[in-house]
Amino acid sequence: MAHNFFPGSLGIDSAGTSITYPDAMNLAGITTISACGGPEITFGSGFNVFGSDPTGLLPLASDSPQHTVGNMDRMGFTPEQIVAIVTGSHTLGGVHAANSPNLTTEDFAPFDSTPTVFDNNVFKQTLAGNCRIPFDCFLAQNETYRPFVERFAANQTAFFESYVQAFNFMMLFNENIFLGGKIRHNLNLAPLTPPTTTCPESLSERKDCGFVGIHQPQCEAKGCCWSPVSPNPKNIPWCFFKTSTEQQASAAAPAPAPALAKREKRGCPFAV
Ligand code: HEM
Repeated sequence: MAHNFFPGSLGIDSAGTSITYPDAMNLAGITTISACGGPEITFGSGFNVFGSDPTGLLPLASDSPQHTVGNMDRMGFTPEQIVAIVTGSHTLGGVHAANSPNLTTEDFAPFDSTPTVFDNNVFKQTLAGNCRIPFDCFLAQNETYRPFVERFAANQTAFFESYVQAFNFMMLFNENIFLGGKIRHNLNLAPLTPPTTTCPESLSERKDCGFVGIHQPQCEAKGCCWSPVSPNPKNIPWCFFKTSTEQQASAAAPAPAPALAKREKRGCPFAV
């Protein structure tokens, strides 16, 4: 494995090296994929976005397919990579009523018949009309994406090859990609417009952005909000993530489907 450590947010060891949350997510994903029979992916650190979803751009299950495709497109994913990394990753695990009550009433509803095996069954079942996530259903129906769903359903080796390529691409991200800058391999990206972020006013909306003992300068250097609570019997975080105004608006609106933040669900490599 290639470890290109640099100062980050998961702490610094005695040698002065560290790893960021997204790097840790990627490493956990690679390890899981391998353990479940999927392709071997070489880990590369360097994803320098600190914390989870700092700009509010990670996909929500309630986002329209056009919105998600638009974001992934501007990040530089090709249609083949989108199908491989999104539907392909949904070969493992499934949806949970606790996280996605609009998608299932079951405690755990697997995406395919082999939820612990990294294989191409998910593509076969999606083509047969058994898709659990609207975005995967969209990909299987859309003329741009369907050919890749069909190819991966018919050929697991082709799926694995495209998946490794897409995962490698995902590992190259850094904060500049969200801001429309260049990433390490000179992609010519159209600018993305990050949503406006604010510090949530409600204590219940606070998501911990720090660690025990963090001080205001360290917290603010991470781009997070700082506001002490005293007394604090419920252990409300003093250092917490900003939220996007877009998310706040959708949370306030009587949305037809609950706006469950993907980053809040367990087990998804895009989430914390
Ligand atoms: C880009 C659009 C995506 C959407 C809309 C999406 C949506 C979802 C949703 C709604 C769930 C079910 C959550 C639950 O009920 O617990 C889920 C699960 C999952 N997603 Fe995604 N996802 C996307 C991309 C990805 C990507 C890129 C990866 C991996 C690189 C991924 C990996 C997973 C995994 C492994 C699970 C299963 C989690 C578990 O069983 O606990 N997803 N996704």
